[in-house]
Amino acid sequence: MIALGSDHAGYALKCEVMEWLKSNGIPFHDYGCFSGESCNYAAIAQTVCNEVAAGRHDKALLFCGTGIGISIAANKVNGIRAAACSDYFSAKMTRLHNDANVLCLGGRVVAGGLACELVNVFLHTAFEGGRHQSRIDYLREIEKAQTQQHAE
Ligand code: RB5
Repeated sequence: MIALGSDHAGYALKCEVMEWLKSNGIPFHDYGCFSGESCNYAAIAQTVCNEVAAGRHDKALLFCGTGIGISIAANKVNGIRAAACSDYFSAKMTRLHNDANVLCLGGRVVAGGLACELVNVFLHTAFEGGRHQSRIDYLREIEKAQTQQHAE
C-alpha cells in the first residue's frame, strides 16, 4: 500500500492520480490534505514520511505546487529519499540509481496524464543495486552522523 499526501497546491493533481491508482487497482492511503484550503506542505510531508520511515508504507507520492518544497521537507526525515520529478527519465532513474522511496510532483508543473506516467514508472521500476548500493549506504551514514551530532 502506498502513502499519499499533498498541500492545497498539489491537491487537484493528487485527486487525478488517486483516480488513476483506483482504476489500476493500486491500493493507497491518503494522509491529506482533503481540500484546496491553504496548508503547510512541510507538515504533510512529515506525517507521510514518518509513516514510510516506520515501515508502514514502502513508497509515497507527495504533491505541492512545484514538488520542490514538499521534497525538501520529505528529505528531512531519516530514511527518506525523495525526488521531485517532472520528466519520465528522472522518475525512472531515481528508482534505478537512488532507490527513491518518495516521488514528489508539482500540481503547477505537470499535467495529470504525465503525472500518472511518472507514477507508473516510479512504482514499477526496481532499484538496480550494485554500485549504487554503497552510495545509498553512505546516505545512511550521513543520517547516523547527524543524529549523533544532535544528541551530543
Ligand atoms: C504553495 O503556494 C506553494 O508554495 C507550495 O505548494 C510549493 O510549491 C512549495 O514548494
